[in-house]
Amino acid sequence: MTLPPSASDIPSVVRLRAEYQNAAFGIGAARPRLSWNTATTAKNWVQAAYEIEAHDAAGRSLGQTGRVASDQSVLVPWPFAPLASRQRLAVRVRVWGSDGQQSDWSEPISIEAGQLAADDWTARFVTPAWRDDPSRPQPSPLLRREFELRADVRRARLYITALGLYEAQLNGQRVGDQVLAPGWTSYHHRLRYQTFDVTSQLRRGPNAIGVILGDGWFRGRLGYGGGRHNIYGERLAVLAQLEVEYSDGTSERIVSDPAWRAATGPILASGLYDGETYDARLERPGWSAPGYDDQDWAGVETLDWDLARLVAPTGAPVRRTQLLAPVAVSRLPSGRALVDFGQNLVGWLRLTVSGPRGQVITLRHAEALEQGELAIRPLRYARATDTYTLRGQAVEEWEPRFTFHGFRYAEVDGWPGELTPQAIRAVVCHSDLERTGWFECSNALVNRLHENVVWSMRGNFLDIPTDCPQRDERLGWTGDIQVFSPTACYLYDSAGFLASWLADLAAEQAEANGNVPFFVPNIMAHPNLPAAAWGDAAVLVPWVLYQRYGDTGILAAQFDSMRAWVDLIAGVAGERRLWDTGIQFGDWLDPDAPPDKPGKARTSPQIVATAYFARSAELVGQAARVLGKEAEAAAYQALAAEVRDSFGHEYVTRGGRLMSDAPTAYALALEFALLPEADLRQRAGQRLLELVRQGGYHISTGFVGTPLICDALCHAGAPEAAYRLLMQRECPSWLYPVTMGATTIWERWDSLLPDGSVNPGEMTSFNHYALGAVADWLHRVVGGLAPAEPGYRRLELRPRPGGGLTHAEASLRTPYGLARCSWTIAAGAITVEVTVPPNTAADVYLPGQAAEPLAIGSGQYQWSYPYQPNHVQPAPLSLDSALEAIVEDADAYEAVMQIIRRHNPEFADRLNGPTGISLRQIVMLNPQPDELLSRLETALANSGKTRS
Ligand code: BGC
Repeated sequence: MTLPPSASDIPSVVRLRAEYQNAAFGIGAARPRLSWNTATTAKNWVQAAYEIEAHDAAGRSLGQTGRVASDQSVLVPWPFAPLASRQRLAVRVRVWGSDGQQSDWSEPISIEAGQLAADDWTARFVTPAWRDDPSRPQPSPLLRREFELRADVRRARLYITALGLYEAQLNGQRVGDQVLAPGWTSYHHRLRYQTFDVTSQLRRGPNAIGVILGDGWFRGRLGYGGGRHNIYGERLAVLAQLEVEYSDGTSERIVSDPAWRAATGPILASGLYDGETYDARLERPGWSAPGYDDQDWAGVETLDWDLARLVAPTGAPVRRTQLLAPVAVSRLPSGRALVDFGQNLVGWLRLTVSGPRGQVITLRHAEALEQGELAIRPLRYARATDTYTLRGQAVEEWEPRFTFHGFRYAEVDGWPGELTPQAIRAVVCHSDLERTGWFECSNALVNRLHENVVWSMRGNFLDIPTDCPQRDERLGWTGDIQVFSPTACYLYDSAGFLASWLADLAAEQAEANGNVPFFVPNIMAHPNLPAAAWGDAAVLVPWVLYQRYGDTGILAAQFDSMRAWVDLIAGVAGERRLWDTGIQFGDWLDPDAPPDKPGKARTSPQIVATAYFARSAELVGQAARVLGKEAEAAAYQALAAEVRDSFGHEYVTRGGRLMSDAPTAYALALEFALLPEADLRQRAGQRLLELVRQGGYHISTGFVGTPLICDALCHAGAPEAAYRLLMQRECPSWLYPVTMGATTIWERWDSLLPDGSVNPGEMTSFNHYALGAVADWLHRVVGGLAPAEPGYRRLELRPRPGGGLTHAEASLRTPYGLARCSWTIAAGAITVEVTVPPNTAADVYLPGQAAEPLAIGSGQYQWSYPYQPNHVQPAPLSLDSALEAIVEDADAYEAVMQIIRRHNPEFADRLNGPTGISLRQIVMLNPQPDELLSRLETALANSGKTRS
């Protein structure tokens, strides 16, 4: 049927969600907030009213709101009675537009509550009756129980979790598709359970449940420098409660209890860092099916454990999300095979193999090669080695269960016969979040940089936000996610995932009198001192979630934690309002810091600390205002003003210089609004630009300055300088790793040195998202898509073309629907296209047009007009031109630098230093200047020709 042309103007409600979930199954919130999008082609569409209705499974109404006059469509408060444990209902929504048009009822979404109270659990944790040797990895126990179901099953749910990792099976079949469940939370405070619909896996008559447990985060080795075992406990245990509803309406409950049996199986050892050792000869066929003889199995004991700590997940589970085939399989001189997947990733290998019984295959993993062999030094104390012993049957398929590795390469030893590419796959695993944001532009290297950011997020969003996925850390380092959270919230729907992590942060912080651990969950035996930019995650991450998702609930939930952090720092700083004590990470991994002293940055850690103190105090004040806490709002904003004053007094000269004359210091001062007077800001911006220019447009910031530097340059009126930093390909820069073949973001600007060797420092991961925080600038400034109001209720569409790009495009599934901003320059004209989702509005700043924005409502728009990229035609350059003028001309500068590097590499640095002198003057300092001068002269002349 063809619809009449105006039909799509009629609104329809789509993407109905409860909290952050499309399928709200086993949800932990008794009052889940509801969100929806409206699809319509009508322009300027604004919601005038909504109606919500709830039904039970039999279609009986459980309530309706009637027509509610409201434009709210994101995180609308639950309008009905709170859900009871395990309650199931369906909800649907319809809306009215301000144009009077009404939608049909939406497709209903079903919502099913999990176990909402501790006393819903009659199951108890059970653990094998034997005691393991707690000093080293132990075989994984199998636990099982048979049970009889007396009738046909209408519905069945398995609620399950473990102290350790688990995989559950019913009647010989795996339950669900999650891996590494129940994930990692601060187990002392919170442990997630999972809910599975297992209706189709049960039958009338005999059934069996089986559970395999692994050491995982619970008792496996964790932490750098050798780490510790048994951080949360020595005994693995499972908690399982199977609720069965028969077709006659009666029900049955099977729980983990003393009747379960336990034995060891084929997993001889497993560790997240070290890998898994699996002997297929020790498999117990049929162990999780009924009728298996478990007479010789041991019994189990129940473990006391506070069930009030159980919580339902708020984020997506970890799943296998992609399989990669090798791009190359080769043979090493040692005779072992080397497999290259062409992409640095996180997960493990899957083998398909046949060979003699007892043959042992060893798999070692690494992110990089050095002299053709795996570079394993960066892994530190992580063995990253899996072994599989064949059972000797026709074809065996295997992958590990209770480990993960960060790798691009794998070395395979002991493979029977020739290893073919078909026999091996890389299984990519991470929290299976919904992708929401995309970016692309006309520069292939920048696109690859962006792709690398996406891959680093995938690799490090494995249940918690980690620093890196390969070495003996993989910890929830607070500073890393603090700087990366704006990027994360654009690329994927990170709200539920980060809300869970923040709940752990708050729980652990409360235990530490307001101090935030370096990483969450905290595994340190002793408390740490507060560290700026790291501990500030307590304030900044909730604020980012509020900005990007419009979620005031997260501010309410975290407010005490946010405030406690600032109160703690106010105490440390004292009346002087300067945080200049303690141990700080500062502008971690500033490229000017020596490889073995990553904290020795050019910007003093005190400047970083006091700047963050001001920023966090300001944001706690703003959060208080959002929450209607006026007294707190005034108090924290006054505190912030005092800190800014002290900062200015102590660290800023009257001429607008900072006491650390380094880009990070200026970027902090500008972006954290620490300079009250316009005149100071102008001069600080000018100085920042000078420093960046003197650095030859190489990056010179670490974790703290990197997310700010491009914005700071734009705010200083120098977007082209930001583009020069972005487009720089020499080391250090964002694109240097890309030119070296990087497929993820590196921890260091030079994790791989220009000569292809691995950086000798300790911090040499090839998969750290922190320095990828620039992607947020790509989205907001290059693509031009930013939130003007929390949750993108109002968009700021303000693309700033530059850097020689002819096209860029950002698109984002905002809480209100898909938004897009794209620009293309061709034949002297620019075309800007935008999409503004229904029920939102936007301010559009067209490149090269009036400074005043166009205010528009929802819909799709396009503008085309004559446009000349803002290129000032540089004056012809010669040997007598001032150095600054040469640095300013990207082509000339590159030509000059190439020659100087080839001729006299040590000399290259001098070109970035002094100002006010000519190229000739500086080259004359060279022992043999003549030949160099004549080459440079030709190069400058040539670069002038190409330009004109
Ligand atoms: C981690 C970082 C972390 C840092 C703290 C490192 O070992 O990998 O990313 O933030 O320590 O200084």
